[in-house]
Amino acid sequence: MDFSKDLSVIILAAGKGKRMRSETPKALHHLCGKPMIYHILKQVQMLGPKNIFAVIGHKKEEVRKYLKDSFPGVLTVDQDKQLGTAHAVMTAESHFDDMGENILVLSGDCPLINSETLKVLAALRHKKDLSASILTYMADDPYGYGRIVKDDRGKIVRIVEEKDASSSQKQIDEVNSSIYCFKKQMLLNNIGKIGRKNSQGEHYLTDIVEMFIEKGEKIEAYTACDSSEAGGINDRIQLAAAEEILQQRINRGHMENGVTIRNPSSVYIEDTVVIEPDAVIGPSCFLIGDTFIGKNAVIEAFSRIDGCRIGSGTRVLHSVILGADIGPDNNIGPYSYIRPDTVTGSGVKIGAFCEVKKSSVGRGSKVPHLSYVGDTEIGSRVNIGASSVTVNYNGFSKSRTIIEDNAFIGSDTMLIAPVRIGRGAIVAAGSVITRDVQADAMAIERSKQRNIRKGAAKYRERKQEKKQ
Ligand code: UD1
Ligand code: CA
Repeated sequence: MDFSKDLSVIILAAGKGKRMRSETPKALHHLCGKPMIYHILKQVQMLGPKNIFAVIGHKKEEVRKYLKDSFPGVLTVDQDKQLGTAHAVMTAESHFDDMGENILVLSGDCPLINSETLKVLAALRHKKDLSASILTYMADDPYGYGRIVKDDRGKIVRIVEEKDASSSQKQIDEVNSSIYCFKKQMLLNNIGKIGRKNSQGEHYLTDIVEMFIEKGEKIEAYTACDSSEAGGINDRIQLAAAEEILQQRINRGHMENGVTIRNPSSVYIEDTVVIEPDAVIGPSCFLIGDTFIGKNAVIEAFSRIDGCRIGSGTRVLHSVILGADIGPDNNIGPYSYIRPDTVTGSGVKIGAFCEVKKSSVGRGSKVPHLSYVGDTEIGSRVNIGASSVTVNYNGFSKSRTIIEDNAFIGSDTMLIAPVRIGRGAIVAAGSVITRDVQADAMAIERSKQRNIRKGAAKYRERKQEKKQ
């Protein structure tokens, strides 16, 4: 059944989210790298609704900006005073003419909701021509949520908020998810009539249930099979629990696609990351932002990769890589730090304890140990000896180093930029290079070695005498 053309969505995101104790509006708190409202909208968009409205209020300009940048199709409605969830729906009243027959209302704080569940809820409303279908779930800890009160035939009769519930009602563990699908006309006819006679003095959307029942309207509660999906997030503890669940979902998705993840509960992968099959992700890795991991790549334990492309077959161990484009079959780490705007060709090695910044490293080149390479262009098949440094900063400005194909840089070399090492040139170990080296030339910059015969023995004797 395709009723999506007749489906409109209202997301309530105007509340302060007091219990978060935050300067950030609740809908913009992150889970797996994206704001709560992103996760909701992503699921909602899968339904292909006619239109989506977000009711915003508290710190509305921040929320509006986020939505404008990331979901330009979503229309915002301002609720300047947050007088309750019914009042929030009311503020969208002027748009009711543009809305479809089915109006799906969600809170902005339920990021784990799945589009399939929303579809079932909306289909239920549509198929049985209900005035409302209400998504409920069985809560392990119902504290704080609206309880679903049912009659002896098991039909929903009303929703009681925690603060208004009697002690026996508080025993009920079926709770309101705050996700509903309404028949437009019924919502329109009744939303304005909801009062605020309750302990919080708010217009509760939940009161519409009792109103419908009194009028003999047909409504139904639909119990979500997966209780983890529907829970609203009100504080940081619930936020952490939800993020864990979302993380499991993301990791499971990658595993289903053929990615091996070792000790998945320790692995944090943001929603935006793409991983090809047969890649292996080790324990305690963080894969963040717009990251792509190619097939057969092995990202070993304790690596953090943020906004990178990692080529197929590349191995990374205990390293941090940010904003870099790493080619195929590279070997990175352990303990290296690769910073933005670094590009490597195929078969490159950046070994242990190296830092590479804003540099290109050509095919087959090696920076195996303890080096700093910054603002540098390294050609192919270059070897950079241990502890060598491109000296790119003089305290005022940065300069570039160019090392051409097949050059060999001996260990502990300082290349004072700007400087160019020609093709096939050799720089002897321990040199401080301040002038360009021509192709195939050998550069040595060190003072001549002197060996003093018996010098060490004499030195020891002198010291020993002094001590006595
Ligand atoms: C609400 C439900 C409760 C349900 C719970 C599920 C009501 C009265 N209660 O309670 O039955 O179990 O969600 O998570 O609806 N909002 C506005 N404008 C307002 C007030 C709220 O936009 O004036 C938004 C909030 O930003 C939030 C959502 O509506 O996204 C729900 O509000 P919240 O204060 O979190 O309601 P709960 O007390 O959690
Ligand atoms: Ca809530």
